[in-house]
Amino acid sequence: MCGIIGYIGQKKANGILIEGLKRLEYRGYDSAGIAILDQGEIFPLKCVGKVHELAKKVQSHFQHSGTIGIGHTRWATHGNVSEKNAHPHLSNGNNFAIAHNGIIENYLPIKAFLIEKNYKFYSDTDTEILANLIDYHYQKEKYLSFAEIIRKSLLHVEGTYGIVVLSKIFKDEIVAARKSSPLLIGLGNGENIIASDAAAVARYTKRVIYLNDGEIASVCSDNFSVITLGEGSVDMVYHELDWEIGDEDLGDFPTHMLKEIFEQPSSIENAMRGRFTEDASSSKFGGLSLTPQEFRSVERLLFCACGTAYHACLEGKYLIEKYARIPVDVEYASEFRYRNAPLQRNTLVFVVSQSGETIDTLAALQEAKRKGYPVMGITNAVGSTIARATDSGIYQHAGLEIGVASTKAFTSQLTILSMLALLFARVRDMDDFSGRQYVYALKTLPKTIKEVLKLSEQISAIAEKYYGQGRFLFLGRQTMYPIALEGALKLKEISYVHAEAFPTAEMKHGPIALISEESVCIFLATQKEMLDKTMSNIQEVKARGAKVIVITSNTQIAWEVFCNEVIKIPETHPGVNPIVSTIPLQLFAYYVGLLRGCDIDRPRNLAKSVTVE
Ligand code: F6R
Repeated sequence: MCGIIGYIGQKKANGILIEGLKRLEYRGYDSAGIAILDQGEIFPLKCVGKVHELAKKVQSHFQHSGTIGIGHTRWATHGNVSEKNAHPHLSNGNNFAIAHNGIIENYLPIKAFLIEKNYKFYSDTDTEILANLIDYHYQKEKYLSFAEIIRKSLLHVEGTYGIVVLSKIFKDEIVAARKSSPLLIGLGNGENIIASDAAAVARYTKRVIYLNDGEIASVCSDNFSVITLGEGSVDMVYHELDWEIGDEDLGDFPTHMLKEIFEQPSSIENAMRGRFTEDASSSKFGGLSLTPQEFRSVERLLFCACGTAYHACLEGKYLIEKYARIPVDVEYASEFRYRNAPLQRNTLVFVVSQSGETIDTLAALQEAKRKGYPVMGITNAVGSTIARATDSGIYQHAGLEIGVASTKAFTSQLTILSMLALLFARVRDMDDFSGRQYVYALKTLPKTIKEVLKLSEQISAIAEKYYGQGRFLFLGRQTMYPIALEGALKLKEISYVHAEAFPTAEMKHGPIALISEESVCIFLATQKEMLDKTMSNIQEVKARGAKVIVITSNTQIAWEVFCNEVIKIPETHPGVNPIVSTIPLQLFAYYVGLLRGCDIDRPRNLAKSVTVE
């Protein structure tokens, strides 16, 4: 949450900060601001709303040509959305400006202490106390280096932070520090960029270092140095970003979400590349440091994740239990971290996170590791905190996902989890022939997804008929239940309409009371063995006035007779069927959101990477 950026180099900082903030905007977008050091003074500029509003303001009346500055795009935590609460925040006397991501938990006692020292506060944020705390330490020990002042200040702080600090005292450096909030330095030629996310630096340099918790970096235009908050040593690892310039551009698509939906044939292909055994009867993951014997000795799996990634894990449970017969538990990471869950021996823990920065998932990971369990990760963001904290893991290689509502990252997680089900099954009871059938289904998945994407126009027309309805229920059995949950979440996020999901048969146990003519029920009827039961459930809601949309691969049944809309998708192997069935739901949510006039890529109240609890 919140995007932060700092630039120091030879170019005008304004343009680079604004460009960077546009790339970071998906992390939070209720207000934005920059501060530039120009001719020895710090000049801030802030505004409520999206980065393009700030860009307009810069264009019209902010012609500072300083080559050092910081910027921020906000997802409000402390204080409402207003210019005074937008970052960067200045210390009294304007010696320091700070942009911050995270939460300072003990900000009230620090504020009281600073008020006693005659500091004044002009915002409701926890961040402004940091600006003044830094100034307090500077005034107290003026001989200290910039990084040392920040270190002394942070020693008093409880909570989480990624910060960049600009100073008119220390004119040739920016100091950055992190604790549980991502931060990296992009190393350029005569210029360096600090950002909360590689998206902001990828077009300037591919060479980055990720700061670790407790590290404080002093960044100049042609060098940098790192100290630690405590006694620990600095552990610097250089990474090469594998993003192509332009990955973050829209191309011919109107929104990132639609672009990312249509990228799924290739993101799924990338999730599978080089990950099948030579005899094409199983999958393999170079990143998982387990021998076949160790795979066999796993007695239980535990998956922890949040939101969409949680739904992917739930699907993983159905598939792994079905094919590999290993019991699987799935927990919301935010619950697991505080639950003190009893875990049995030989449990292998997986955390799944697109961003690799979700704080709840990171905390669940740490909790499982503390208890001595091996923890594997499935992440998309290379070099992210979760990727670095796990014992070993699998990268999704889905490419940059900018749309706040996760689409291609979800299907790539599903693909990897389906391949894991195959892998665990093949070291246990699945025979060679079944393994080959499974692999074939996976390999042909990108082609199948391309076919389903051709339904886009039909789904847009269906959305046109129903987008005004007040209630949407998504219903699926077994492997279709997690997909129904994800369909409902996508619709909620993108169109702000009330949507819920249930295992189809659960309908009768309560939710059926919701059914009226205002309701649209979306049934996932793609499993052969469940068709009769699903048809009866459709009749039950039809009889109570609901509109019915069915997604099916069955061509024998005259669905049109008793359903309002029929979306036909290809019949596929049950191990990949959930992935294929996801696509129409993503498209449906997209078109409903569009027709309801919502901001598809920046849905209200959301942010892409949730780095606060
Ligand atoms: C929904 C969505 C969120 C994320 C969740 C976890 O479209 O994107 O529900 O799935 O915040 O994020 P990651 O996967 O980055 O840990």
